[in-house]
Amino acid sequence: RRPLNPRKKTMNSENTYPPGFLWGAATAAYQIEGAVAEDGRGPSIWDTFSHRAGAVLRGDTGDTACDHYHRWESDLDLLVELGVNSYRFSVAWSRVLPTGAGPVNQAGLDFYGRLVDGLLERDIVPMVTLYHWDLPQALQDVGGWANRDTADRFADYAGIVHRSLGDRVPYWLTLNEPYCSAFVGHLEGRHAPGIRDEATAVTALHHLLLAHGKGVQTLRADGVTGQVGITLNLTSVRAGSEAPEDVAAARRLDLYENRMFLDPILRGEYPADARAFYDGVTGFEFVHDGDLETISAPLDYFGVNYYERHAAVADPRDPARGWAKVPPAEPTISGISVEPVGLKEILHRVADEYTTLPLIVTETGQALFDYVDPEREVNDAERVHFYRSHIEAATEAMNDGVDLVGFFPWSFMDNFEWAWGYGHRFGMYFVDYATQERIPKQSAHWYASWLREVGAREPLSALRA
Ligand code: FCB
Repeated sequence: RRPLNPRKKTMNSENTYPPGFLWGAATAAYQIEGAVAEDGRGPSIWDTFSHRAGAVLRGDTGDTACDHYHRWESDLDLLVELGVNSYRFSVAWSRVLPTGAGPVNQAGLDFYGRLVDGLLERDIVPMVTLYHWDLPQALQDVGGWANRDTADRFADYAGIVHRSLGDRVPYWLTLNEPYCSAFVGHLEGRHAPGIRDEATAVTALHHLLLAHGKGVQTLRADGVTGQVGITLNLTSVRAGSEAPEDVAAARRLDLYENRMFLDPILRGEYPADARAFYDGVTGFEFVHDGDLETISAPLDYFGVNYYERHAAVADPRDPARGWAKVPPAEPTISGISVEPVGLKEILHRVADEYTTLPLIVTETGQALFDYVDPEREVNDAERVHFYRSHIEAATEAMNDGVDLVGFFPWSFMDNFEWAWGYGHRFGMYFVDYATQERIPKQSAHWYASWLREVGAREPLSALRA
């Protein structure tokens, strides 16, 4: 196969990134690993959900996915070929604890030990997400995130993973996108566990945040030397007009998508308008004394996933409580628009309104219906444009003074895109699911040349010299 070649340089950035800036790529366990019944792994809510008729487009499941569980070594070689200095992946809770609690499955834990060692051997910094949506089914069977005990089970699990990998992992993330776990999983029902109930969703949200806080406390108590953070998917929300009802609708959308997560974690309180918004749905009786202190346990860095920017207007069907999103002029296959300025806006917002913690873009990317052309190439020019413009936007925020210390495109390779199955491709490497061949797309070539230009791997070679 042709080696990765710098194409014509498309962006000449004079920006210099701080030393040690993390240039990475991101994945998650259920989306890539496959091997769902191997080496003692227990089922997760995504195994159950993806096998439910009608839950996932075309009935796709993560049973085999990218077969990364068996191909991890050659996949790590591709990361070297790409030229990243860091890699974000997640640990599958039910590989480590097949029933979510109780005896440790050493074979499952060992897989991640080998993965971490394999990364370090290749001079790639591991960033571990402890929970990327794959709750052990056994815990769902006793209430899942609606059950407060799940937060304690998560803390125990976090401690087990940390005691096994802590000496080698410099970056930890407790949860990925609790918004999606809570609201897409328990209100919209489009994700596992497929529940549609608002009170359950808000309860789950609180228990997810509690799990995060307890997880942080466990890692601290265990003497974690790596940095500890969380990743939120944040949206940039503005009002579609100056009309007071549209401004109010935008404020509610911002509560729902952003402030319900940012405020408890970074300010130790739910937003003042949350109780009124959820009046008649829940009285927040699930919040116990001390919970918000736990949830706002100090962090070392903060992860931001960026996909969406919305203009909100009042929803005529529900003017007091709802909102409508102005449909994008040029929607992508995900139905959202490509708006790099939104990334700059949310980085600014977090830094200006919430925290001085270093920020890392832990995901951003675009889905396309990619295909391999007769020359065996994948010309994802839109994705190249997406990455270039989003790196530019993040760099502008950094040059404005935002303490940005890393950038991880979603995704390293095509994978199981949840309810969309394998049809929506996000990768820099194309995965031919019939043969498991990986083919670098144009975006991989572009990112590789960008990484060379910014000297992504230089600090590492300097350390070695
Ligand atoms: C994010 C998820 C990630 C991936 C991207 C496209 O919401 O964290 O797993 O599915 O969207």
